[in-house]
Amino acid sequence: MKRIIIIGYMGAGKTTVGKALAKELGLQFYDLDWYIESRRHKTVPQIFAETGEEGFRKIEHDMLHEVAEFEDVVISCGGGTPCFFDNIDYMNGQGQVVYLKAEPEVLCKHLKMGKTERPLLKGKSSDELLTFINEQLSRRTPFYEKARYQLDVSLMDNYEKIKISVSKLR
Ligand code: S3P
Repeated sequence: MKRIIIIGYMGAGKTTVGKALAKELGLQFYDLDWYIESRRHKTVPQIFAETGEEGFRKIEHDMLHEVAEFEDVVISCGGGTPCFFDNIDYMNGQGQVVYLKAEPEVLCKHLKMGKTERPLLKGKSSDELLTFINEQLSRRTPFYEKARYQLDVSLMDNYEKIKISVSKLR
């Protein structure tokens, strides 16, 4: 039985890497945000608007506990998932947790290019975005670093290499 759980900050490429990896390994792919949306029949921004971040974190925690019971899966989490409740310890007990690490400037670049609506980043200018990422990373990194594996995606020039590195994990 294999269960790979991918964590890291917004814009690190968790979904892209997770999807490719699942295909490569013949495993089922789950993105936790998409799972939440399909189970709750609401988008993540709607959940934030209706229940605030606190409400979202509770739902995220419950949905993580559903998804991380499935077998032979690759799960990509939201950027904040490992940093609330005992989520990171639970994940480490459930599977092989991989932290996709990237420099703040790289994350910022990816987030500016991306089309996904992210409630925490709404209305931020380019300068504010980098400052915000740096602040959040200093709070979140201790949680991310509890992952069994770390891959620095800033050093990798394409997803193919990342996929190969992750698929070699034992
Ligand atoms: C969040 C990241 C998002 C999503 C929500 C909150 C965060 O997922 O779960 O907007 O706190 O970092 P991605 O990392 O997939 O963007």
